[in-house]
Amino acid sequence: MGLTQLLPEPRTDVALEEAFAFPAEDTVRAVFIASVDGAAVVSGRAGGLANEWDRQLLALNRALADVIIVGAGTARTEGYGPAEDAPQWRHVRAGRSATAPIVVVSHGLNFDFDSPLFAEAPESARTIIVTSADAPNHARQRAAEVAEVIAAGEATVDLPAVLRLLRHRGHSRIVCEGGPRLFTDLLRAGQVDELCLTRNPSLVGGYGTGILRGAEFASPLDLDLERAYASDDSYLYLLYRRG
Ligand SMILES: NC(=O)c1ccc[n+]([C@@H]2O[C@H](COP(=O)([O-])OP(=O)(O)OC[C@H]3O[C@@H](n4cnc5c(N)ncnc54)[C@H](OP(=O)(O)O)[C@@H]3O)[C@@H](O)[C@H]2O)c1
Repeated sequence: MGLTQLLPEPRTDVALEEAFAFPAEDTVRAVFIASVDGAAVVSGRAGGLANEWDRQLLALNRALADVIIVGAGTARTEGYGPAEDAPQWRHVRAGRSATAPIVVVSHGLNFDFDSPLFAEAPESARTIIVTSADAPNHARQRAAEVAEVIAAGEATVDLPAVLRLLRHRGHSRIVCEGGPRLFTDLLRAGQVDELCLTRNPSLVGGYGTGILRGAEFASPLDLDLERAYASDDSYLYLLYRRG
């Protein structure tokens, strides 16, 4: 049994793969889950908000991706490893490496360099660390032993330059798994095309993390709701495009 499509027109039993196919053109798709009141974490982690459909959607987005970009805060908090080879989505990776490489963005390079994110990444999808030129030298040298290191920008990471480089390497489907700070910076730099947002049907409360972090935008950024789906446990799966 598939999802119920609400938009663009009502339909039943829609396959996830059809619902969340990538457009033909170069696309940066941000992927998040949040509660009805906008909480992006429960007890500090995103996983507490997910259901089975959302886990499958995350796996599908990872399989569709040429590259998966994530902020260091999320990689550390969520204990990131390399992307898993998901048997049910293997066909969407035909002609590409079995899994997409993880690109982790960090200024401080405060990582456990023995962690699975670096130690267990396959040769075909080595982890890439993106940092800026003034990152701590000793950490940068250690990083280069376990990952590819790219410096873009002087004091801060130049995100548009990073995305240009990834595209230059042929990565046209770029999935950003957050977190809130990286997503905010990408939005400010005008680099996000789509937001794939799962809505968990609960209220979390508190003053915790939302999907954005940082100062209010000068004016709200408009999104167009292109596609909307529901599952029978009241979760919503929404695909927005930047207006
Ligand atoms: N609900 C969801 O879908 C979802 C998704 C992702 C994350 N989360 C949650 O969000 C929380 C993490 O939030 P966060 O805002 O700390 O996440 P984040 O954006 O992943 O990490 C922030 C850190 O990433 C690096 N970074 C991000 N943007 C950068 C930039 N433009 N230039 C240089 N470095 C940059 C910096 O790392 P350094 O400190 O190493 O310099 C920064 O401290 C976690 O609790 C996680 O579970 C939820």
